[in-house]
Amino acid sequence: MRVFNFSAGPAMIPEEVLLQAREEMTDWRGSGMSVMEMSHRGKEFMSIAEEAEKDLRDLMSIPDNYKVLFLQGGASTQFAMVPLNLANKNSTIDYINTGSWSKKAISEAKRWCKVNVAASSESSNFTTIPAMDQWNLTKDAAFVHYTPNETIGGVEFNWVPEVGDVPLVADMSSNILSRPIDVSQYGIIYAGAQKNIGPSGLTVAIIREDLIGKADSSIPVIMDYKIHMEADSMYNTPPTYAWYIAGLVFKWLKDKGGLAGMAEINRRKAEKLYAAIDDSDFYANPVDVPCRSRMNVPFTLADAELDSVFLAGAKEAGLVTLKGHRSVGGMRASIYNAMPEAGIEALVQFMAEFERTHG
Ligand SMILES: Cc1ncc(COP(=O)(O)O)c(C=O)c1O
Repeated sequence: MRVFNFSAGPAMIPEEVLLQAREEMTDWRGSGMSVMEMSHRGKEFMSIAEEAEKDLRDLMSIPDNYKVLFLQGGASTQFAMVPLNLANKNSTIDYINTGSWSKKAISEAKRWCKVNVAASSESSNFTTIPAMDQWNLTKDAAFVHYTPNETIGGVEFNWVPEVGDVPLVADMSSNILSRPIDVSQYGIIYAGAQKNIGPSGLTVAIIREDLIGKADSSIPVIMDYKIHMEADSMYNTPPTYAWYIAGLVFKWLKDKGGLAGMAEINRRKAEKLYAAIDDSDFYANPVDVPCRSRMNVPFTLADAELDSVFLAGAKEAGLVTLKGHRSVGGMRASIYNAMPEAGIEALVQFMAEFERTHG
């Protein structure tokens, strides 16, 4: 039996995608091979790669002057690649600190550049997002970096920062493809795949063309966006199987009505879960209402002693990986695109029953 898996990532993959991958596992469309066994330079895999990129471009309406790179190394590698490609030792770069992942990006960037933390919600324990009129941006910053969705704190921007001509860089690891966005507002968007795109091991970077080719020649070749762009993301062996599954996920998203369709489903899912939390005195979520994430919903029980009982009961009911991040405690339900609405129904029902019997 498949469970409803609320993991923050790697997270659920749509069941239709898994079934198709199973169907094609040993013989991809008459090739006599699994996708895993194909040369990345062969015509079969090239067609898989090209189609995945085309579908992603369609889904996100990515303008022609943006390159899409399929990379390795996770979002954590992008924490280094972005400053290495867009800045140098003397540059100042602006970062917005809204939680654990922003902090990681900041500490990596500090190894390479002068970092100005232009705004931070640390004093509120990352339960809100500082309004833009409180941001202290640098006039000639090489870029502004922010984290549209903080996976651990469950804080999400529902607006896009206005930073003028300075390139805006977004770590969209945990909310990419969850709703339509205007790519042209960004210089770089990057995301580890293991939440809304597909299996871990793949990282997608969407980069405005004019920002590529600026890296100092002293940086490692593998870190240079230009090298990857010129080789169509095949400078070295890419994560081929993850790329293929991502392609299947993109088709699944198109079938669901694209990102507008997905956004509507995600809105309904999140509203239902937050309503269950807010309508009870037993459950609580600390995040300012307008900044609540539609993807990651942390919540606490009135009595933390009951956490392990809750988790055990939830597991019994087929609701798994609800334990909150160790830095926050309590519970966290990650409800990415592939979490069916039935999973939210089941969780909300379980929560009500648990409150009735233990509250
Ligand atoms: C917002 C965000 N950024 C970065 C990362 C790190 O990603 P990776 O493990 O792919 O390096 C994560 C992982 O959960 C994340 O949620």
